[in-house]
Amino acid sequence: MCGIFAYTGKKKNSAKLVIEGLKRLEYRGYDSWGIAYKSGKDIHIHKEVGKIGEFKIEGSKFDPSNIAIGETQDTQVAIGHSRWATHGGVNEKNAHPHFTEDKDIVLVHNGILENYKELKTYLQKRGHKFISKTDTEVIAHLIEEHAQNHNFEEAARLAMQEMEGRYAIVVINKQNNQIVAARKGSPLIIGVGEKEFYIASDIPAFLPYTNKVIYLDDYQIANINEGKIKFYDTQKREEVEKRIIEIDWDEESAEKGEFPHFMIKEIMEQKDSLSRAINQDPSIIEKVAKEIRSAGSIYLTGCGTAGKVAMVAQYLFGEVSKLQSHFYFGSEFLSQAGFLNKKSIVIAISQSGETADTMEALEMAKEKGAKIVSIVNVENSSMARISDFVIPIKAGPEKAVASTKATSSQLAILTLLAYAMDGGIIIGKQLLINTTSQINDMVNPRYEDHIMKIAKKIKDIESMYIIGRGKNYPIALESAIKLQEVSYIHAEGFAGGELKHGPIALISQGTPVIALVSNDQHKKDILSNSIEIKSRGGFIIGIAPENDEAFDFWIRVPDTGETSPIVNIIPVQILAYQLAVLRKNNPDMPRNLAKSVTVK
Ligand code: F6R
Repeated sequence: MCGIFAYTGKKKNSAKLVIEGLKRLEYRGYDSWGIAYKSGKDIHIHKEVGKIGEFKIEGSKFDPSNIAIGETQDTQVAIGHSRWATHGGVNEKNAHPHFTEDKDIVLVHNGILENYKELKTYLQKRGHKFISKTDTEVIAHLIEEHAQNHNFEEAARLAMQEMEGRYAIVVINKQNNQIVAARKGSPLIIGVGEKEFYIASDIPAFLPYTNKVIYLDDYQIANINEGKIKFYDTQKREEVEKRIIEIDWDEESAEKGEFPHFMIKEIMEQKDSLSRAINQDPSIIEKVAKEIRSAGSIYLTGCGTAGKVAMVAQYLFGEVSKLQSHFYFGSEFLSQAGFLNKKSIVIAISQSGETADTMEALEMAKEKGAKIVSIVNVENSSMARISDFVIPIKAGPEKAVASTKATSSQLAILTLLAYAMDGGIIIGKQLLINTTSQINDMVNPRYEDHIMKIAKKIKDIESMYIIGRGKNYPIALESAIKLQEVSYIHAEGFAGGELKHGPIALISQGTPVIALVSNDQHKKDILSNSIEIKSRGGFIIGIAPENDEAFDFWIRVPDTGETSPIVNIIPVQILAYQLAVLRKNNPDMPRNLAKSVTVK
C-alpha cells in the first residue's frame, strides 16, 4: 500500500533509478505515481495517473532517460512514490511528491496524517496555499513553517512532533542536498551502498544494489547528507547509532523466472517454502509453546488471510493441545482490551509484519503488559520488533498481492506449535514432512490441467460458495477471499452446518459449491451437506482425498490427516489464479487491493 523509493549518491540519473525502484514496489498496489529530483538548485517534479509500466515516454514531455542531472550535479537526489488513494481522488494533483509553493520543500508520504484538518486550518491562517486534497501536502507546509526559524532537519523534527497517526516520510529541500526520512508506524528501510543510500518501503526495491539494510524505528529520523547518514530519536531527543543488517534474500527469489505471474510461481514454490518453515531450529517453537502453555489467556490475531490462519490455529490448539484460545481480527481487537493483562499472551500472524490493524492490536496488548508472539514472513518487520518472541515462517519474498505460500507456511508453523504444546513437536514435524512430500502431486502441470477443466466451466458465473467444517471452516473463508480478490467472482465461505440456517436459499440450478472434505470426524456431515446442496441443483466441486457420489467434479488432495487445511487450500489457490487469468484480470495486482495494508 503506497510505495516509497528514494536515492542519494553518485550514481548518474537518479530519476531513472527511482522509477525502476518504484516498479519493483508495484506489487504493493497503487493507482498513481510520481518522482522529484534535484537538478542544480531546482527540484523537478513529474506525476502520472496509472501504472508505471503503462507510462509511455513517446508523446510525454518527461523522459527519465534524458534527464541530464548527472552533468549538472555531483550528488544525485531523487525521491519517488506510488500512491494508493486515501485522502482525495486519483489524479495528478493528489499524487505524490507534494510540495510547497515554490518547491522549497518536497516530500513523499505513506500512511495517514490523522490531525491534518486542524494543521491545515492553522497553516491556512498563516498564509499557506494548498493545491491538493491530500493530508500529505499539509506536512510539506508544516515543515516549511518551521523552516522559517530552524534548519531543514530540525524543521522536519518539529513537524513530526505535531503529526498524529501512522506515517513514513521522505523529504528534500531546495537549499541543500540533504534527504530527511522519518517513520512512525509505516515501514521505511534504508539500503546502504558505497557512499550512497536507498530509502524504500520494502527491501526488494533496492535489492539489485545492496543487501545491507538499516531499519528505521518509530519516532526516528535519518538525515543523509553528502554520503553520510545520522539518526535521531525524537522520543529520547538524542542521536542514536543504528545497526547495519545483511539480509540473505537474493534477488532471484523476488523475480518471476519462467512463470507468467508471481501468484502461480509462489503457489508452485510451496513444497520448498514449507520445507524451510518446518526445518528451522525447533528451539524457538518449543520455547514459545512453553510460554503459551503457561499463559493465563491465549489470544490469536491477524487480518484477512492471516486472520483465517489464526482461526485454524484456534481449532488446532483446541484439538491437538487441548488449550482454549480466542481469535479476533486485528481490527476487532480493541473490544478485548479489558480482558488483557500481564498473564495474557497474544499471537499475531502476518506475512508483511506491517499490517496497521494487527500492529495496533499488538501495541494495545503491550500496553496491557501481555506477552507478544509474532509469526511473520518479514523477519525484521515492525511486528517482529515489537514482539517478545518471533517465529519466522521462512516463505521467502511473497510479491503477489494474494497470499499463498505464506499461508501454508503459517499453517505449518502453527501445526508445529500445537504439537509442541502437547509435548510432541517430533510427531508434528513428521506429519508436516509427510505432507510436504505429498504436495509434489499437486504443484505440477498435470494437476493444474485438471483444475483448468473446472475453471473453464465456471469462469462466467456470478457467485460461488465454499463449505467446510472444523478446521476446514476457516479454510472455506480463506478460499472465498482467494477467489474474490483475484477472480472478482462473488464467493462466500460457510460452515457446512450453518447452510440450512439461511445460506441454502442461495442455491439454484448450477450454482457452483466447493466442498472441503478430509478424513476426519466431520467427513460424514460435510458429505451430507454436499448432497443437500446437490439435491437443490447445486454443482458440487469436491476437494477430497477420495471421490464421492456427492461430487460433480472431484479434485484429489493427499490424505494428510491433521494438516488437511494446508493441502485443501492449494487447489483453491490454483483455481483462483486460473479464473483470474481466464477473466483477463491481473492476478498479481488485483484492483483496489494492496499487498501491505499499512493504513487502518
Ligand atoms: C489476501 C491477503 C490479505 C492479507 C492481509 C494481512 O490474500 O493477502 O488478506 O492476509 O492483508 O496481511 P499480512 O499477512 O501482511 O498481515
